[in-house]
Amino acid sequence: MTLLTVWPEDDPGTVLTRTEDAGEITGVLSALGVRFTRWPLVDLPADPTSDEVIAAYRDRVEEVSAREGYGFVDAVTMTPAAPAEDAAAARAKFLAEHTHDDDEDRFFARGSGIFYLHVAGRVHAVLCEAGDLLSVPARTTHWFDMGTTPDYVSIRFFHDDDGWVASFLEDSIAARFPTFDEITAGR
Ligand SMILES: [Fe+2]
Repeated sequence: MTLLTVWPEDDPGTVLTRTEDAGEITGVLSALGVRFTRWPLVDLPADPTSDEVIAAYRDRVEEVSAREGYGFVDAVTMTPAAPAEDAAAARAKFLAEHTHDDDEDRFFARGSGIFYLHVAGRVHAVLCEAGDLLSVPARTTHWFDMGTTPDYVSIRFFHDDDGWVASFLEDSIAARFPTFDEITAGR
């Protein structure tokens, strides 16, 4: 299940909120300008292409694209069978605090990943599971941890091809907070 954990930005040892309640998660995130919705899952092939994933969710993808003005959509598949160095490189890419000039909308068709939103003096870790659509508004400080064994299929939405370049902060607090592996351990 989707899990939201909130800490003060300067105290990863103090959990302010920890909830799996979809309504509460939607409420907390919507106060930050972050859209969180859930879609019913559709069956996918074992190792789907980008086109197959998008075709499976075509109606909903078209609805979001039209409403939010997205011009580009693709799907990425991360599999536990990937070589360890590829998994480590993929994980490292967005593991430090950064922003984008574009919104970052992600739908998880399979598997999971954690978006950490550093907003209003707090860190909000959203463990997204299959069926979750999360939108990180442009210029929101965040990072993303896919874990040491990345395992997900996700659809990405873009307004244009270059708005999604990451600008990294000079001093990232990301390493002070529990990782994907730590948060998902024992679930
Ligand atoms: Fe990002």
